[in-house]
Amino acid sequence: MDKFIIRGGKKLSGRVRISGAKNASLALMPAALLAGGTFHLSNTPGLQDVATMSSLLKTMGMKIDLNGDVLTLDTRGVNKHEAPYAHVKKMRASIYVLGPLIARYGKAKVSLPGGCAWGPRPVNLHIEGLKKLGAEIKLERGYIVAKAKQLTGAKIHFDISSVGATGNVMMAAVLAKGTTLITNAAIEPEITALAEFLVKMGARINGIGTNQLEIEGVDELHPADFETIPDRIEAGTFLTAAAITGGRVTLENVNSEHFSAVTAKLEDAGCTAEVQGSNFELQAPAELKPVDATAVIYPGFPTDMQAQWIALMSIANGTSIVTDTIYTDRFKHVPELERLGADIELKKNAAIVRGVKKLTGATVMSTDLRASASLILAGLVAEGETEVLRVYHLDRGYEAIEKKLRAIGADIERVSGKEY
Ligand code: EPZ
Repeated sequence: MDKFIIRGGKKLSGRVRISGAKNASLALMPAALLAGGTFHLSNTPGLQDVATMSSLLKTMGMKIDLNGDVLTLDTRGVNKHEAPYAHVKKMRASIYVLGPLIARYGKAKVSLPGGCAWGPRPVNLHIEGLKKLGAEIKLERGYIVAKAKQLTGAKIHFDISSVGATGNVMMAAVLAKGTTLITNAAIEPEITALAEFLVKMGARINGIGTNQLEIEGVDELHPADFETIPDRIEAGTFLTAAAITGGRVTLENVNSEHFSAVTAKLEDAGCTAEVQGSNFELQAPAELKPVDATAVIYPGFPTDMQAQWIALMSIANGTSIVTDTIYTDRFKHVPELERLGADIELKKNAAIVRGVKKLTGATVMSTDLRASASLILAGLVAEGETEVLRVYHLDRGYEAIEKKLRAIGADIERVSGKEY
């Protein structure tokens, strides 16, 4: 298992190219199951999670190769309709194959995802939505076993506007007979991108970008090419790295509308920001102001930036409260940040962060993807050396993060090998 060694205190400055969005790729790739032929997904990020999704789809008979950032998928050989536990336990997003398999092949056997680092993550909304479309679904020995001769359009209301459930149900509804109306649908940019990709494949979807999606089922879809949207969470993470180190960084190839809530918080903390077309520049202040943040659904402050925000606020000039309304127990990063000298008190799903003058380097353990990112951010500003263990968590969702950080002035190196 690799670890990172970071020597803190360097101001970040320079330009960094943001990769394609992990959470868009993880939906676009299984969507290819809905039609036979060859697809090209450009701006695909080189991530462990993309490799995991590729290996799952290959076990189903799909031919996939990544050439640079263009992922080519050939679905003509798909002949298996299962997602085994081995894959799903590694990556919950594997469940995205469920909707397309039922819609196009009339059957699917997908392992229930286990929990994840921060607790249970149910899939009841996926299952209830697919049942409303006419799928017969049983839970057998940890697997979702589904079959459907022909899905039929239905009215589906989500009690929680779940990103995954919206994606799964939308991918099933596009081949259902008749009209499907999804209300309280998720409007995250990755879902909007999925809807646009499906329309390019011949699907009929109205209300894209809103929480009310009307889908007119069609008999057949065809392959399409698509450019993956930039990763708004990678963008927010690098902006927070600039802010925590007192630096000045320009992001390249971003859609700044997708992280406007993060920009607003960074400006409240004293940063100055400037949109330059598909680039975005941020200048950090000499001293950070404490700013409360509450993670809510899009377009609000994203839960995937909550850990990074706590890291930033740990050295702000005052006290702030960071609340997560999406995952009420996503705070595994807090005890690790405290090892670096942060002063944080957890109260249910809120962290009270009392800014300290400085953090001090130590050895800390990654527990999940965004928690690891927060430890990197803290290490960039902590005095002395910080070792971040088990960085495989980071490799799931950040492409070559240490190379990108080094290129803008960070003193960070990856040490491979031994069990840490
Ligand atoms: C997606 O997960 C993202 N993953 C997550 O990003 C992100 O944190 C999350 O959306 C919220 O924005 C991908 O897109 C691959 P949800 P997803 O269904 O779809 C509850 C990262 O770091 N819920 O919108 O699993 C659930 O427990 C990852 O990149 C149900 O109760 O999230 C949560 O409280 C982490 N029943 C809330 O809804 C269900 O059937 C939102 O979850 C489904 C969800």
